[in-house]
Amino acid sequence: MDIRGKRVLLTGASGGIGVPLATRLAHMEARVALVGRRREPLETLAARLPHSVVVEADLSTAQGCRAAVMGARAALGGIDVLVHLAGVGSFRAFVDEDDEAIERLLRTNCASAMWLAKALLPEMTARGSGRLVFCGSVLGALALPGYTAYAASKFALRGFTEGLRRELAGSGVGVTLVAPRAVRTALNPPEVYDMAQETGMAVDPPELVADALLDAILDDAREVVLGGMEPWFVRLNALWPGLFDRLLRKQAETVRRFVRRKEIQAALQELERKQATR
Ligand SMILES: NC(=O)c1ccc[n+]([C@@H]2O[C@H](COP(=O)([O-])OP(=O)(O)OC[C@H]3O[C@@H](n4cnc5c(N)ncnc54)[C@H](OP(=O)(O)O)[C@@H]3O)[C@@H](O)[C@H]2O)c1
Repeated sequence: MDIRGKRVLLTGASGGIGVPLATRLAHMEARVALVGRRREPLETLAARLPHSVVVEADLSTAQGCRAAVMGARAALGGIDVLVHLAGVGSFRAFVDEDDEAIERLLRTNCASAMWLAKALLPEMTARGSGRLVFCGSVLGALALPGYTAYAASKFALRGFTEGLRRELAGSGVGVTLVAPRAVRTALNPPEVYDMAQETGMAVDPPELVADALLDAILDDAREVVLGGMEPWFVRLNALWPGLFDRLLRKQAETVRRFVRRKEIQAALQELERKQATR
């Protein structure tokens, strides 16, 4: 795709991956609607990017997704490309996930993709062109301990993109899924980076992921799994999940240690707070 002059709705634009991707898109002369809940970082970003506008929206509701599409459409005159990066993370033992957080995770990471696509598809299919780009995760094809709820949201997102791509075949509207491995952004708590350091787990800089996303957009790619060995791990896990159940048993121990550290620290902070207010 030639991105120059294209009208792009970019969600998660203020995030770790969103900022470098917005910058790259704007420098390639795309017209970008920067979407997120917090207006201030979006305004700061828009001030240094030509042809960009800010659209404030909470994508964890269907209404918020429709408002984002309507706002971007009104500002740009239509949408050619959706790049949906907005997402939330979760690193904890599954039994400690709270019900509301699970719901928010599923709404933000998966249902939002459906709501945005629903709001955009009538315009794109009528025109016979468009591209929907979604940000998944390696964990959307290879679930790891400590990320059970998050992985479920990204597995669901991958299923959605696969079905939608097949449903839209021949319509002129393409669907792309980019699945990064761990990336150094605010999505992950510090424990994840400490664990990565101890275990040698690779963590990519967000600029590298933004480059890969841009390449996937320009190439009209189908599905891209990022990383060195990760694309192979994903294939092997699909063929031989029992092998990964065994291999990951040891990692589950390590993860438990880091997840517990967070809980102990939170409990100590709560104790200190109570003592201070006594
Ligand atoms: N970081 C990683 O290790 C990693 C690995 C694989 C995949 N990914 C995926 O990459 C994508 C981008 O993540 P990131 O690492 O850049 O995260 P990040 O730095 O935490 O940024 C998250 C972005 O999503 C927006 N957002 C969150 N909830 C939202 C909501 N309810 N409505 C609207 N916007 C919302 C945030 O803006 P506001 O807070 O202003 O709304 C922010 O711009 C996510 O889909 C994530 O799952 C990340």
